[in-house]
Amino acid sequence: MIQIQQVRKTFKTGSIMFDAVKSADLAIGQGETLGLVGESGSGKSTLGKMLIGLENPTEGTIMYKGADLWKKRKFKSPRPGEIQTVFQDPQSSLDPRMQVKDIILEPLYALSLAERKEKGAKERLIYLMKRVGLKEEHMDRYPHEFSGGQRQRIAIARALITDPQFIILDEPTSALDISVQAQVLNLLKELKREKQLTYLFISHNMSVIRYMCDRVAVMYKGKIVEIGPVNTIFENPKHPYTKILLSSLPSLFQNSKEKITFAEPTEMNGDSSGCVFYQKCPFRSDICLSNPGLKQTSANHSFSCHFV
Ligand SMILES: Nc1ncnc2c1ncn2[C@@H]1O[C@H](COP(=O)(O)OP(=O)(O)OP(=O)(O)O)[C@@H](O)[C@H]1O
Ligand SMILES: [Mg+2]
Repeated sequence: MIQIQQVRKTFKTGSIMFDAVKSADLAIGQGETLGLVGESGSGKSTLGKMLIGLENPTEGTIMYKGADLWKKRKFKSPRPGEIQTVFQDPQSSLDPRMQVKDIILEPLYALSLAERKEKGAKERLIYLMKRVGLKEEHMDRYPHEFSGGQRQRIAIARALITDPQFIILDEPTSALDISVQAQVLNLLKELKREKQLTYLFISHNMSVIRYMCDRVAVMYKGKIVEIGPVNTIFENPKHPYTKILLSSLPSLFQNSKEKITFAEPTEMNGDSSGCVFYQKCPFRSDICLSNPGLKQTSANHSFSCHFV
């Protein structure tokens, strides 16, 4: 469904140029949930934003169902509303001055998919509010009158109103407490099955990733350092950074007995041409100053490390 090929995103602040995403290659199959995990600032949201037109790639191509999303560097949406997003913080992503009904319906009007008076839109609103676990009478309220979990349900209904096929979920439950988190994750799973959705699921929580995803891509400093089926990544991680991410989990979630941690950062900078993990890798050696490339262990599992 989606093919990201050698995508780079360079930001310029003042005179400093910096790659938030460096040459990312990634494919997402129809009906799959691909997890994207990595530390804060590794470029996960930037990658997601390029899939919905909020950021433009500096280099590379992004194909959606065989069509270039950024043809001639201009974002060309497939059917309007076919790609949707749900962001982390429903507090800031929902307009506090709008009633819930207008928040949920807004994408339809913004994309000229329905006229404000159209009866079908109202019926769809009521159906979706109920489907995500809200009550019809909630529609005249404002976001501050809801709990965090309910606000995220509003955001999900808003994403679903355009009948999307692909949804980018950017830390959709990170702001919620643990019991509410589970309810919202289950809702997302049910909706996916029911509506045959495809998800890009961004999170830094490995347990949530394991619960939700079919495959996982691990990002570090703008690069995908490992990608594979969720069970392979959890049971047989290859990249040292993936191993460190897993080491921090309760033993319930990982089989690896190996306990490894970040190395003291070195002065030497392996970033520009070598391995992105050089500075903090416990196994680094001189060879890591050159780019390890992406190696494949099996059909579905690739990683970027000179060792292993
Ligand atoms: N519009 C922008 N202008 C300049 N720099 C930006 C911009 N957006 C993001 N960045 C930088 O790009 C890097 C990647 O940011 P991004 O938001 O993609 O990270 P992330 O992996 O989603 O992190 P988090 O887990 O904290 O959400 C960060 O260093 C960030 O400061
Ligand atoms: Mg982010």
